[in-house]
Amino acid sequence: MDVEVLGRVLSTLPTDDDHPYRTGPWRPQTTEWKADDLEVEGEIPADLDGVYLRNTENPVHPALDGRYHPFDGDGMIHIVGFRDGKAFYRNRFVQTDGLLAEREAGHALWAGIAERPAKSIRQDGWGARGRMKDASSTDVVVHAGVALTSFYQCGDLYRLDPLTLETLGKTTWNGDFPAWGVSAHTKVDENNGELLFFDYGTDAPFMHYGRVDADNRLVDYVEVPLPGPRLPHDMAFTENYAILNDCPLFWEPELMKKGLYASRFHPELPTRLGVLPRRGGGKIQWFEADPTYVLHWVNAYEDGDEIVLDGFFQGDPEPKDTGDGSFYQRMFRFLALDRMQTRLHRWRLNLVTGQCKEERLSESITEFGVMNNRYGGRPYRYAYAATGLDGWFLFNGLVRHDVVTGAEERCALPEGVYGSEPAMAPRVGATSEDDGYVVTLTMDMNQDRSECLIFEASRLADGPIARVRLPERISSGTHATWAPGSAIPGWSDADSAASAVGL
Ligand SMILES: [Fe+2]
Repeated sequence: MDVEVLGRVLSTLPTDDDHPYRTGPWRPQTTEWKADDLEVEGEIPADLDGVYLRNTENPVHPALDGRYHPFDGDGMIHIVGFRDGKAFYRNRFVQTDGLLAEREAGHALWAGIAERPAKSIRQDGWGARGRMKDASSTDVVVHAGVALTSFYQCGDLYRLDPLTLETLGKTTWNGDFPAWGVSAHTKVDENNGELLFFDYGTDAPFMHYGRVDADNRLVDYVEVPLPGPRLPHDMAFTENYAILNDCPLFWEPELMKKGLYASRFHPELPTRLGVLPRRGGGKIQWFEADPTYVLHWVNAYEDGDEIVLDGFFQGDPEPKDTGDGSFYQRMFRFLALDRMQTRLHRWRLNLVTGQCKEERLSESITEFGVMNNRYGGRPYRYAYAATGLDGWFLFNGLVRHDVVTGAEERCALPEGVYGSEPAMAPRVGATSEDDGYVVTLTMDMNQDRSECLIFEASRLADGPIARVRLPERISSGTHATWAPGSAIPGWSDADSAASAVGL
């Protein structure tokens, strides 16, 4: 392994930190690495060609009021690139305006999500709530050859070189970037290069939907009127429709008037699913479904008069404090999959009758489901999801759901080893949906290291076919993606993965 340190940040976190989302598998990194020709156990397939990108929450300073929430951490992107049976790695902070301002100050300037906005030192800020730091640490996609990082409370889309991870600036869309910012979970349709997105806020109309074409021009930006401020986290799309949601879990209106942002589940209200034409906007058709909160959808597609929408139904969107577990487990019970009872679920929306039919696709508790992105918005069969460690926001295994037969194939990680959101990497020249690999990164607390695991997508239960060693144990985080080499400028011209990144 050929390793070089590209940079270090000065962390002001306490050396005796006991916050479980800043220690152990969530211990943030302060070093930015560049490593080539990584050590491999097993064999990297020669037809695995492209880059796995992983966003992580990587805080540098203590929270202003001492109530750090993992979603507040600064965005750090990791890539593991594969070409010609070899692998390289880089990790870099997203150079957000907030990170740079706090680096200058030497401490936090904005209150986190578990703190009152009034505690922020700075009057300005980002986020649907306002006076937050846009950490750009939630999600990452690759669109028009550039990696875009995003923040779940809405903010800028930071543009990163998908190979060097250099921050190239913020997306402007030629001056059309929305003043509300853009939410995490932008959707890239690999079939036509479009990017779809939504944003939300505390002022009417409370949500918008937008579409960007393959040439990176904003071509649609339409209002999605809601009854009040909502907390949508994800969207879905089909070939002809965009699907947005109004789940009955939102900030308490009375508390908001006092500057407090506390979300509450309203089981007396339905979940509302909004379908609108993907291109050009137009009338939104709303469907009512059983009350729940959906953090993540997997996919959607059209089936005759119906739209089929798959995602994770939460059996208990507002888990009660039972007094069990540590202070932090109780505080962060909303992050534990077992507490939220997240199960793969299907909603069928009939565009003619206006009816919604629902069915549970699995009894297993899983979330963070991904699929082969070439099947985004189209009929598909396989979802690759994570299982959670009871009581914690940590992934301890992978499950492949067959949404046609209901079959499940599992790979549990050893105790003390945690995974990242997986990504499905189609094999070069793939001939079927599951012809490819599943990639994830681990936080291995037993060996104090991180590895990139590669599985055959069709044989997850066989375990990894290759394990690639990273230079340092990384932090856990939320989302990841796969970018085929063909989607990365300069990739095909380079002689090797190393030269593609200028090593
Ligand atoms: Fe998410």
